[in-house]
Amino acid sequence: MRIGMLTGGGDCPGLNAVIRAVVRKGISHYGDEFVGFLEGWRGVIEDHTMPLDLQTTSGILHRGGTILRSSRTNVKKIPGGFESCLATIAKHKLDALVAMGGDDTQSISVELVKRGIKCVGVPKTIDNDLSGTDVCFGFDTAVTIATEAIDRLHSTTEAHSRVQVVEVMGRDAGWIAVTSGIAGGADVILAPEKPIDMDEVVRLLRARWESGKRFALVVVAEGAKLSETAGQATLGAKLDSFGHARLSGIGQALAEEIEKLTGYETRSVNLGHTQRGGTPTAYDRMLATRYGVAAIDLVHQGKTGRLVVLQGNKITDIPLEDAIAKNRTVGEDLFEVIKGLQPKA
Ligand code: F6P
Repeated sequence: MRIGMLTGGGDCPGLNAVIRAVVRKGISHYGDEFVGFLEGWRGVIEDHTMPLDLQTTSGILHRGGTILRSSRTNVKKIPGGFESCLATIAKHKLDALVAMGGDDTQSISVELVKRGIKCVGVPKTIDNDLSGTDVCFGFDTAVTIATEAIDRLHSTTEAHSRVQVVEVMGRDAGWIAVTSGIAGGADVILAPEKPIDMDEVVRLLRARWESGKRFALVVVAEGAKLSETAGQATLGAKLDSFGHARLSGIGQALAEEIEKLTGYETRSVNLGHTQRGGTPTAYDRMLATRYGVAAIDLVHQGKTGRLVVLQGNKITDIPLEDAIAKNRTVGEDLFEVIKGLQPKA
């Protein structure tokens, strides 16, 4: 078979591990040939490619980023975009496409499936918020980086008797904030799922001071809102082609509010893209490799419009539409874990 591959949306540690696994199994077991499209859907529209074979995918397992590079190109917004994609796919005589991406990337695959293209998806986002899968690769690396940052911030925060706010990624779901916050022993953990209750934040910080510990760590997801009525904190008003604002600044806004309400010196740090950079953890390399092998198997089973997913410890697949229908947010069970560790009201 001839198979095209692309990586779309924000990059994610483990993308190269998926690419390597798909190509290795495809060539060695099925005799496939591959075309790599550069910079997500833009590469398909513009027919911008690179060869994908055993040589070009060698030595990339541990590397962050993606050898195919990425972009947030929305084919739906480009006049003639789908026609260009179909022309490129026909020109390269492709039998199938494997697209690695989150809901935006997969929403384009869904449209191509309607136009007769065989597409298989691999769930990728450090935010971990794709429906139908328990874990997206890249999430574990992001959590590991955030937890290490929280660990490091502990000593300097204690030395200065401060409150330290740590802003982490998480646009619609607080998986990174909740997981790194619990793992890093944060005193307050705030996620997009629940508007921030400043009275509760102040109560928790005062309780911490009264317990004799005169420092505290607060972890907040970039998508959290300062109140029921507030919008998300953004960097300017510009939207990307999928209509998403650039989120940033909730950490600083929250730090100013905390200092005003408590009188405790408060600082904020935004971990930003550091969470997406560098080498993937062993867990993510393993998960990405399992996804890659499953994706190429699906292609050869003739299944299309499917997303490989992890349910429990089993790799299986679901319709692409199910994955993009809604975000998978953090459940009450984890918010209860957080509450259980905090002083009772
Ligand atoms: O999609 C994952 C994500 O990392 C979000 O958490 C974040 O809001 C966004 O990407 C940042 O995207 P960009 O790299 O375009 O700034």
